[in-house]
Amino acid sequence: MNQLPTITPENLSYPILPGAWPSLGHFPQAAWDTPKVLREAQALGPLVWINLSGWGLIIVHPDGYELLKGKALSVASMANQGAELIGGSVLSVDGVEHRRMRGAMNRPFTPEGLSGEGAAKRMAELVEARSKGMAESPRFNALNELRDLALDIIFGVLGVPDADLPWWREKYQTTLLASVPFAKNVPFSPTWFARRANAEIAARLGSEATRAQAEGSPGLLAALMRGRDENGRGLNPEELIANVRLLGLAGHETTASILTWSLSYLSQDDALWDRLVAEANAAGHIPQAPADLKQHPIAEAIFRESLRLRTPVPVMSRALVLPAEIAGCTLPVGTHVRLPLWLWNRDPARYPEPERYNPDRWLGRDRKPDPVEMSPFGGGAHFCLGYHLAILEGVQLLTAMAQRAQGRRLRLVKGALPAERFFPLIQPMGKDTEMVWERA
Ligand code: HEM
Repeated sequence: MNQLPTITPENLSYPILPGAWPSLGHFPQAAWDTPKVLREAQALGPLVWINLSGWGLIIVHPDGYELLKGKALSVASMANQGAELIGGSVLSVDGVEHRRMRGAMNRPFTPEGLSGEGAAKRMAELVEARSKGMAESPRFNALNELRDLALDIIFGVLGVPDADLPWWREKYQTTLLASVPFAKNVPFSPTWFARRANAEIAARLGSEATRAQAEGSPGLLAALMRGRDENGRGLNPEELIANVRLLGLAGHETTASILTWSLSYLSQDDALWDRLVAEANAAGHIPQAPADLKQHPIAEAIFRESLRLRTPVPVMSRALVLPAEIAGCTLPVGTHVRLPLWLWNRDPARYPEPERYNPDRWLGRDRKPDPVEMSPFGGGAHFCLGYHLAILEGVQLLTAMAQRAQGRRLRLVKGALPAERFFPLIQPMGKDTEMVWERA
C-alpha cells in the first residue's frame, strides 16, 4: 500500500476523548475499562478522536457499519502493529490479495465444508469428551476448560490426532505472549518465548502438512492445502502457517469467552436452564452438523445474546484508503477509524432494553440475523471465517452440558456473574469462573 497521509485532530476538528496519558495516549484507560471509554465517546458525538498507538476516530454513529461494505478500508496499519500475531495472514491483507487467500480458505468453513470434511463430527466428539469431564467434576473452572476445548477443536478439525492436542495447546498459548504490549525481544522476554513457540509450530506444521498430503487426510489442514480461489490460486507454505496461527488466535479466546459467559448467565436463570435442558433432551443428541442447528433455537439464542452483550472484539481498527461520508461528514484518505462493535450491539433502536440479557429477542423470528446483528463477528470482506464453526461449537457445548445435567444445575462458586477484563479481548475474569453442580 502507498504511504497514506497521517490525519490527526489538527487536520480534522472533532472532539477528543479527554484523559490521554503522555506517550501512552488512551491505551491505559481502554485496557482498564473499554466500555467506559466507548460510552464517554458516545456522549461526545458521532465522531470522536482517541489515541491508541496513534490517533483514530471512533465512529460512534451506527452507520459506521456501512463503511465495512465498501472498499474504503484497509487493515494494513492494524496488521503492522500486530505483525507478530497476524502478519502474513488473511487478516493482514486487503483487496485482491485478500480475495485470493480468502477464496482459497472459505470452502472448508462453510456449513457444507464443515460437514463434508468431517470437521463437525470431530467437533462433536471433542465437545462430548470435554463436557463429560466437566459433568463428572464436582468443581471446574469454566474459562480454562472452554479455552482448552476451543484450542482442541481448532487443531482437532485441522486433523491433529488427539494425543498431540496438548502439545499444540501449550505452544499456542505461548505464542500469545506476543500480545503483551511494549515487550522487547530480549532473551526470556514474552516476545522471545512467543517467537520460539512460533518457530516450533511452523516446523511441526510442515510435518503435519506432509502427513496430511501423504495420507489424503480428511482434516481441514488438507482442505486448506487443496483450497483454490476462483482463479485456481492457493496458499503458499508460509501463508498456510500464518493462517493456521490466525485460526488459533481468532477462534479460541473469543469462543471460550462467549461459552463461559453463556454458562454464567445460565447459572443465574433457572427457567432458562430448564428450557435449554428440555430442548437438549428433546433433540436426543448434540448437533452433528450445521444443518442440525434448527433443532436447537434456544441454545443458539443463548450464544447470540451472550455475544451481543459481551462482544469479545469490542472495536475493530482500519485506515481509510478512499474518502468516506459518515454522519454527514467527509473523512479524508489516511484517517484511522475505530469501529465500536460493542456500542452498535447495544443500540436501543435495534435492541429494546439493550442492557438486559434476553435470549428471547432471538427467538420466534422468520428471518436469519442481519449483518449488523452478526457484527460481533465483524463485517465486510474480513467477516469472521469461523462464523459457522463458532455457532456450531457453541450450540454443541451448551446442549451437551444440558444433556449431562441429570437433574442438576450449574452455579458459579462466586454466585454473581464474573467481573470483566478488557485486554486483549473482553473476557470474564478467570478467577470468577469456577463452577459447581447443584441438585435442582
Ligand atoms: C465467538 C467466536 C468468534 C468471534 C466473536 C469472532 C470475531 C471475529 C471478528 C470481529 C473478526 C473480524 C476482525 C477484523 O476484521 O478486524 C473475525 C475474523 C476472523 N475470524 Fe473470527 N470470531 C470468532 C470465532 C472464530 C473461529 C472459531 C475461527 C476459526 C476457527 C475464526 C477465524 C477468523 C478468521 C480467520 C478471521 C479473519 C478473516 C479475514 O480476515 O478474512 N473466528 N472474527
